[in-house]
Amino acid sequence: MPTEMECELKSDKVPIVITPSDERISRLSRLFEDEFGHNPSFYVRVPGRVNIIGEHIDYCGYPVLPMALEQDILVAASLIQEPAIYLRNANSKYKSFNTKITTYEDIKITPDGDGKPFWYNYVLCGIKGALEHLENNTENGLQLYIDGNIPPASGLSSSSALVSAACLSFLYAQNVSMSKTEIASLCAKSERYIGTQGGGMDQAIAFLAEKYCAQYITFQPLQATSVSLPEDAVFVVAHSLAEANKAATNDFNRRVIECRLAAQILLTLHGIPTDKKIITLSEAHNKIGKSLEEMIQLVHTYLPKDIYTKDEVCTILKIGEKELENLYLTANTKDINEFKLKQRALHVYEEALRVDEFRNICNQSSGNGKVNGTNGHTTNGVVSKNETLAILGKLMLKSHESLKNLYECSHTNLDRIVEISQKLGVHSRLTGAGWGGCVVALCPKNLLENYIDILKEEFYDKHCNIDKCDAHLYVFATTPNHGAIIYKN
Ligand code: GLA
Repeated sequence: MPTEMECELKSDKVPIVITPSDERISRLSRLFEDEFGHNPSFYVRVPGRVNIIGEHIDYCGYPVLPMALEQDILVAASLIQEPAIYLRNANSKYKSFNTKITTYEDIKITPDGDGKPFWYNYVLCGIKGALEHLENNTENGLQLYIDGNIPPASGLSSSSALVSAACLSFLYAQNVSMSKTEIASLCAKSERYIGTQGGGMDQAIAFLAEKYCAQYITFQPLQATSVSLPEDAVFVVAHSLAEANKAATNDFNRRVIECRLAAQILLTLHGIPTDKKIITLSEAHNKIGKSLEEMIQLVHTYLPKDIYTKDEVCTILKIGEKELENLYLTANTKDINEFKLKQRALHVYEEALRVDEFRNICNQSSGNGKVNGTNGHTTNGVVSKNETLAILGKLMLKSHESLKNLYECSHTNLDRIVEISQKLGVHSRLTGAGWGGCVVALCPKNLLENYIDILKEEFYDKHCNIDKCDAHLYVFATTPNHGAIIYKN
């Protein structure tokens, strides 16, 4: 007989199970009670994620392959009969925050003096999205106590977990029932209130993740299919110690709009009208009706230059500068005058091919331990387990090189970890948005101890002056976890 937990996890709704006895939950409950004078009425847990492959392509409409982490955002919550939010954090570094929440239009999300979002802005994004979904039809609010253990600004999706946990808490407290895919889409939309045009991967895996497998996530419609990962390898996450806060600069949105402009130009020069709508690179691909490999050729044909000025883009699209800004650019990219369209589009189409190849190899290898190779990687049509890991690893490495050279979102520390890993025979890549944050490495199980040890020595100790004994905070092996869950009393 499956347990209550197992049944709930299989449901298409966010699982609701009895609160387990757990040290962390008890501690949070005590903090909540000390602060608000009563027990929380429920808890919400939303995991962080590591993306195995498929970087910067979700907002172009292409599938990605992430898995959920054990690290999460845990929230203790109670409904209150007052349109207000009372927000506390178990980490005293994050200051308390209270606000009225009469309508979603009134919730303003403004950055601090350095242009970085305040921590509570992510919670406000989730509440704003939930209120919008409810069409402001509530007089109630929430008391929230948060305890997170996903390293912040590390590319492991701590912000999306916070947005999603806030949105889910608010909706559950109001008895709103939604499917996992509906709430994931709502949370993706809500997070855009922070100012970045993310694609929805982080929120999708936060809700759709399953234990022990990664998910192949497709968009429009949002769907997740489990992918079994090779049994003889482990995914290791290593922090580069360079902070990556994608909402603090326009680097992320710049890539998003470069992809939009590339898609407009590809379609226009191919003679297909775009009706001045925002088109993703995958929509351009579908409308043109060619293979991904042929799209790569078309990029070389239609976008041969390394740099396109705003004027040049306007001339090709036959529109004025103001119109270009209003139609395709975001508030923080309107002043950009030069765009790298070829490089970004090439990364996207090539990465989309890599995701499919990675998934096929995983699927075939999980069947019988032997895989029929694809794309010329075969040895008499059959690939051994070792070769499977080598192929997957090479795909990850190519992904990293492309992110470094074509997408320009790496960081010297990330590159250094990738290089050290490669010398040890472990392939890795940056994960998440980049510009810092973490590397994910595909490490054969028999190399694990040695690999982590050498990273501690070569990167954390020698390069970052971090004592080997403290480095476990920054480099760890991880197994795929399940998605968001609600604990009731
Ligand atoms: C961030 C965004 C995601 C995705 C990744 C890059 O995490 O939130 O939607 O675009 O960057 O793959």
